[in-house]
Amino acid sequence: MRYRFLGNSGLQVSEICFGVMTFTGKTGWTHLGIQEQKDANRLTSLAIDNGVNFFDTADVYSSGISETMLGKALGKKRKDVIIATKGEGRMGKGPNDEGHSRQHLIKACNDSLKRLNTDYIDLYQVHSFDFMTPLEEMMSALDQLVKDGKVRYIGLSNFFAWQIMKLMSISEKQNLEKIISLQAYYSLVGRDLEYETIPVCLDQKIGIIVWSPLHGGILSGKYRKGKKWPKGTRIKGESQHLPYDIERGDKILAVMEKISKHKNAPMSQIALNYALQKPGITSVIIGARDKIQLLENIKTTDWKLSEDEMKKLDEVSEPPRIYPHRFFRSRR
Ligand SMILES: NC(=O)c1ccc[n+]([C@@H]2O[C@H](COP(=O)([O-])OP(=O)(O)OC[C@H]3O[C@@H](n4cnc5c(N)ncnc54)[C@H](OP(=O)(O)O)[C@@H]3O)[C@@H](O)[C@H]2O)c1
Repeated sequence: MRYRFLGNSGLQVSEICFGVMTFTGKTGWTHLGIQEQKDANRLTSLAIDNGVNFFDTADVYSSGISETMLGKALGKKRKDVIIATKGEGRMGKGPNDEGHSRQHLIKACNDSLKRLNTDYIDLYQVHSFDFMTPLEEMMSALDQLVKDGKVRYIGLSNFFAWQIMKLMSISEKQNLEKIISLQAYYSLVGRDLEYETIPVCLDQKIGIIVWSPLHGGILSGKYRKGKKWPKGTRIKGESQHLPYDIERGDKILAVMEKISKHKNAPMSQIALNYALQKPGITSVIIGARDKIQLLENIKTTDWKLSEDEMKKLDEVSEPPRIYPHRFFRSRR
């Protein structure tokens, strides 16, 4: 396993982060598959034994079940790992049970600490943007959480580039704790992040942590156009996957398949390696139904794509050159 510094911080995280959105118990988000405490214990230990020191969850995942299960699965190993969790999402019926208000973020963080059974969270991320609360209020609430020792580093998830830039400027002017990371969707079938977000993150030294790098399983190659899709997996049909252009996606999968055969490596590793080798990306958050998927995904870091393979993948998955990008050739 390789480790990288997260953004402009001294914190080192494994290139593979284990995302535990699938720790559902019997009553949580079971549409993703069912993982009970015994599964969580086994997968968490296996990840740690294979060098993973970075785990991602959120309060909203199965209404707190994922955090509780991760806390239990880590047990005494908690001190050896980096826990990233998120707050902002709706956790109750009241008007203040979601969003970026000081009221909600402080309560959400306290509740996560209890569920995770820890007295600090390594990386506390604001899950998504709330258009109602001033950014200054959100930044001062996050700063307070760090000052109180509840949180060690702060990050964002699913923010627009201009909002990130504005937040960095607020921190600078008001001498508040700085954002070190952005958790965002990025994959071979969705490179939208390259338009605005990656340039801002590179400029501001914010580390990008990629969610759903296999596009929910599509990039493992098991769902192909014109072929029977597998049963018993998360994606039950075309309406159930994250949006992407299936025609274009199949061209990308065909190039991945060739590289996969040549390298004798699974397609999932091609997708994960591609993301890890792109500028600005620090870590990929993998999801895994079982031990086989978990180990296959972790072993991505055993090898690298060549420059030529990266070029082929870049070309087939190139996002449309929208204005004003069409005036400029990327230098990255
Ligand atoms: N910040 C956000 O808004 C946000 C949003 C989504 C996720 N996340 C984070 O990102 C993490 C990962 O998301 P994700 O689970 O959607 O990631 P993903 O890598 O896109 O999909 C994971 C799913 O793909 C299938 N899979 C994984 N490895 C495979 C392999 N080697 N071969 C074949 N199939 C494989 C499994 O589902 P099947 O076995 O059912 O096919 C697995 O559950 C989450 O746990 C969460 O921490 C964050």
